[in-house]
Amino acid sequence: MKRISLIAAATLALLGATAAQARSFDAIQKDGTLRLATEGYYAPFAYFEGKKLVGFEVDLAELMAQKMGVKFEWKTIPFDSLLTGLSQDRWDLVISSHGITPEREKAVTFTLPHYCSGAQVISLSDSIKGGKDLAGKTVSAQTGTTYLDYVQKHVPGVKRVVNFPTNEAAMHALMSKRADAWVTERFLAKEMLAKNPSIQFKQGEMLFVERIAAAVAKGNQSLVGAWNKAFAESLKDGSYAKISQKWFKEDIRCP
Ligand code: ARG
Repeated sequence: MKRISLIAAATLALLGATAAQARSFDAIQKDGTLRLATEGYYAPFAYFEGKKLVGFEVDLAELMAQKMGVKFEWKTIPFDSLLTGLSQDRWDLVISSHGITPEREKAVTFTLPHYCSGAQVISLSDSIKGGKDLAGKTVSAQTGTTYLDYVQKHVPGVKRVVNFPTNEAAMHALMSKRADAWVTERFLAKEMLAKNPSIQFKQGEMLFVERIAAAVAKGNQSLVGAWNKAFAESLKDGSYAKISQKWFKEDIRCP
């Protein structure tokens, strides 16, 4: 008996080292502060203006916190580490334009999608517009994204796929001709192209569309429930539409 409980305790300790218990919404309410994480280099969704984190997802998450009756704090973390931090209880919720995929759903629980968008091919040439034009070409995308995954798995004949820790670095690869095409999100592309008017970027076809959501630790239903309730309210009371208009001059909610 004693021996069994010792083994059980040792196993628990081992599990504890890898997966920490996520905080329920109740625990967050008691503490008073929701810990939010994002990359912070993904304009116009979440990026820095000087020292201030701003953007559509920043406004949205802060509105959700307000509706949920809690304060918030932000952490900015490299994109690739955001979802794993949930299972280590380093933050409560990630909002960083993650597309809902079956692969990610094995590791985290997604909220309702807060926008729908798609991956677009960007190049410097009129002849590189869609997936079929990528055969024999070098394509850049951000590490850990659905864009990279898609090009690796679903675009036949690509010569080389090069990945970069930030989206901006993936764009620079195209600008400096280390890549023939860059695959990224369409609103983000629009923003980057507007900021670099001297470069003759061509916005090509959409490769796929995706539903973008925030994520919490796998199974943290109370937190997802509280967020979804606040989110549904924001769709109804016009506050979502207001934020969307502010950043995109259109409503980007999923149909
Ligand atoms: N939507 C893409 C994905 O789900 C890209 C997200 C990139 N987000 C970021 N903050 N860099 O992988």
